[in-house]
Amino acid sequence: MSSMTLPVGHASDRRERSASPRRLVMCRPDFFEVSYSINPWMDPAEPVDRGRAIDQWERLRETYLDFGHTVDTVAAVPGLPDMVFAANAGIMFGDKAIAARFTHAERRGETAAYASWFRSTCPGPVIEAADTNEGEGDFLRVGNLMLAGTGFRTSVDSHHEVRQFFGLPVISLELVDPRFYHLDTALAVLDSATVAYYPPAFSATSNALLRQLFPDAILATDADATVFGLNAFCDGLNVFLTAAATALHAALRERGYNPVGIELSELLKAGGSVKCCTLEVHS
Ligand code: ARG
Repeated sequence: MSSMTLPVGHASDRRERSASPRRLVMCRPDFFEVSYSINPWMDPAEPVDRGRAIDQWERLRETYLDFGHTVDTVAAVPGLPDMVFAANAGIMFGDKAIAARFTHAERRGETAAYASWFRSTCPGPVIEAADTNEGEGDFLRVGNLMLAGTGFRTSVDSHHEVRQFFGLPVISLELVDPRFYHLDTALAVLDSATVAYYPPAFSATSNALLRQLFPDAILATDADATVFGLNAFCDGLNVFLTAAATALHAALRERGYNPVGIELSELLKAGGSVKCCTLEVHS
C-alpha cells in the first residue's frame, strides 16, 4: 500500500484540521412524540419520554454553543412532532433558501413554519420546493458540490430544482435500504473533500460514484450505521455524533478529527439523531 501512488484525498490525512464557527438552526422538541410511523424506526407503541428528549436536545444545543457555533431556534408548533428534525426544513445557501416539500402528509405543516422563518432571515429569494424535497436530510454540501439523496423521500426532479436555484453541481445518489431513508442517515460530510458513509445503504451505481469521488472516505460499520453514527455534524475538526458509534469515533480520531459524543436516544425512536436536529446556514 505504501509504495502505491495515493489518490489526492489521502494528502488530507495528516493535515492540521481546524474548526470554523457555523450558524445552525434548531427546533426544540416541545411537542415531540411518536404518534405515527413514516420510517422503520418509528413504533408508536414504544413509549417516548418528551422531557428526556428536551433535555438531550438542550445538551446538543449547549454543546454547539460551547464549541463556538451560533444556534438560531425556530418555535415548535403543536401537532408537528417531527419538527425537531430541522435538517428537513429546507436548504439555506448564500442569501437564498428553498423550503421543503414533505413526502408524508404528517409533516407537511412544517413547511409554512420553516418558510416563514427563512423569509424573516434570508436577504434573498425564498421559494417553496416544487417537488418532494426534504432539505438537508437529503442534500449535503461537500465543498462546492451538493450530494443529493433519492429513493425514499426527495425526488430526482427536486435535485434538478436545487441545481438550478443555487447554481451548484448536484450529484444524485440512490438510497436502497429503508432504514437509511435520508442521505444524512447514511453519509456524513467531514470537510470540503471528505465524507464517511455506509456502502450498503446505496445502490451499486452510487457506490461506484462515491468511491470515485471520495477514495479517502471512512466506511462505517453496520453497528455504527444502525445507531445513526453517520447522522453527524462536523465543523472541520469537531464531529458531533452519537456516543454509541464507537468504531467511527476511533476512525475519526485516527484521521485527526475530534469526535464529540452526544446522547439523543429519545429522538432515535423517531429515526433521527444529531444531523437531523441541525440545519446549517451555509454562507
Ligand atoms: N421521523 C422523521 C421522518 O421520518 C425523522 C426525520 C429525520 N431527519 C433526518 N434529517 N434524517 O421524517
